Amino acid sequence: MNQSEIDAILEVHRLAFGEAEGEETAQLAKDFLDHPDTIAISVKRDGQVAGNVLFTAFVFEDHPETKCYLLAPCGVSPEYQGFGVGRELMETSIEHLKFIGTDAVFVLGVPTFYPRYGFVPTDKQTPYPDLLTAHEAWMALELTAGTVQRLNGTTKAIPQFMQAHWWDTSGRG
Ligand SMILES: CC(C)(COP(=O)(O)OP(=O)(O)OC[C@H]1O[C@@H](n2cnc3c(N)ncnc32)[C@H](O)[C@@H]1OP(=O)(O)O)[C@@H](O)C(=O)NCCC(=O)NCCS
Repeated sequence: MNQSEIDAILEVHRLAFGEAEGEETAQLAKDFLDHPDTIAISVKRDGQVAGNVLFTAFVFEDHPETKCYLLAPCGVSPEYQGFGVGRELMETSIEHLKFIGTDAVFVLGVPTFYPRYGFVPTDKQTPYPDLLTAHEAWMALELTAGTVQRLNGTTKAIPQFMQAHWWDTSGRG
């Protein structure tokens, strides 16, 4: 991916998450894009990146053979919101993740958006289980039948995502 594509993705997240969270979300996206295994899916409109979603590795420490990803961040530029870009991002991503043999995808996100694409609340642990107070926001999408049920124990995100504040839902409305 060249620098202008990276810049376009970061700008989408900066705008999508607004004044309060845009800058730190763009920084998180930059850290993720520096990681060679990160999967980036973008949707273009009018020849430019209108939306982007990133997937990073997520490991259940007792099940290292199970291929899981974390979905974050997912953003659509405000001027393109409400026109199907988010849906296209999710559908394209799920198809790709299935194609590469992913077993399950996890997300800490909006509980009214992700269930449209098959995510359901899960009782599996985040890396900081004590900080998860909004339980309906932690969701899983199973891509290989039977995967989620057999997963248990502690989990680990990539180092850039192992900061407690990303997993603390106490301040979320
Ligand atoms: C959430 C977001 C990615 C959706 O993208 P979008 O392009 O506006 O979504 P779409 O137009 O494709 O809408 C897809 C469906 O989701 C619904 N939807 C859109 N935004 C939603 C939201 N914030 N919460 C719940 N549902 C939402 C739409 O009504 C639509 O439903 P339908 O298919 O039944 O009509 C986008 O609004 C965004 O970037 N928001 C700010 C950042 C954010 O909150 N990201 C998710 C954090 S976990």
